[in-house]
Amino acid sequence: MSLTDLLRGRNSTRAFLSRPVSTALVRNLIAAAGQAPSGSNIQPWQLHVVSGTIRERICTATRAAATSPSVASGRTYDYYPPAWRDPYLARRRACGWGLYGLLGIHKGDRAAGMAQELRNFDFFDAPIGLFIFIDRDLGGGSLLDCGLFLQSLMLVALEAGLATCPQAAWVPFDATVRGILGIPDSQMLVCGLAIGYPDPGAPVNNYRPSRLGVEEFTTWHLDTPDTTLP
Ligand SMILES: Cc1cc2nc3c(=O)[nH]c(=O)nc-3n(C[C@H](O)[C@H](O)[C@H](O)COP(=O)(O)O)c2cc1C
Repeated sequence: MSLTDLLRGRNSTRAFLSRPVSTALVRNLIAAAGQAPSGSNIQPWQLHVVSGTIRERICTATRAAATSPSVASGRTYDYYPPAWRDPYLARRRACGWGLYGLLGIHKGDRAAGMAQELRNFDFFDAPIGLFIFIDRDLGGGSLLDCGLFLQSLMLVALEAGLATCPQAAWVPFDATVRGILGIPDSQMLVCGLAIGYPDPGAPVNNYRPSRLGVEEFTTWHLDTPDTTLP
């Protein structure tokens, strides 16, 4: 697959097979993604890969925390804005309803919506879960660096026949995840990632949310108008 094919072929997979994933393969993918650039080459990402018993412990504890309003979620960064507004709100809603539509979840069915949200904390059944942390005192640029790492990892995973789902859903449960992994408060959870073989029979994996057209987010500042542009 060309890089363009990989970019166009990657999708967030939300149903995985139980088929195990070789640790050596995951290590190779991480090594490749570690070639991602970072400002001043500081490589701020710190990875924790979980499978088996510890993965199960984290999933169980996080599901419990997510369904218990009394459990404090700990200090995190704002992945999403504190208040939503358009056009982002409309895009977010379109994404959510598109996904729920495929899953047969109707508007207003909060229980079914919550159940789907909780699937995040099973890594959507992916056998491998990965968490990216950074030292909490680093600047916002390190989050950007982690984004480059994450996309690199997702693309090489796809090249190897694996599927992924990036998961900001874990972020509010920073303290729960750190507690089980023995990670100090000086570090902060940036994102989770489910990795595994996709379930080809699961309709949810057919979800392909649309993208904006180039002209909707690009302004050209050219000396002379380019007549080849639409
Ligand atoms: C950093 C990041 C965090 C995300 N967090 C979640 C998540 O917690 N749960 C989920 O189901 N999808 C999550 N997504 C997937 C997005 O919904 C998805 O990327 C977007 O709808 C575009 O779809 P695609 O990835 O299939 O192209 C996340 C994506 C990114 C990049």
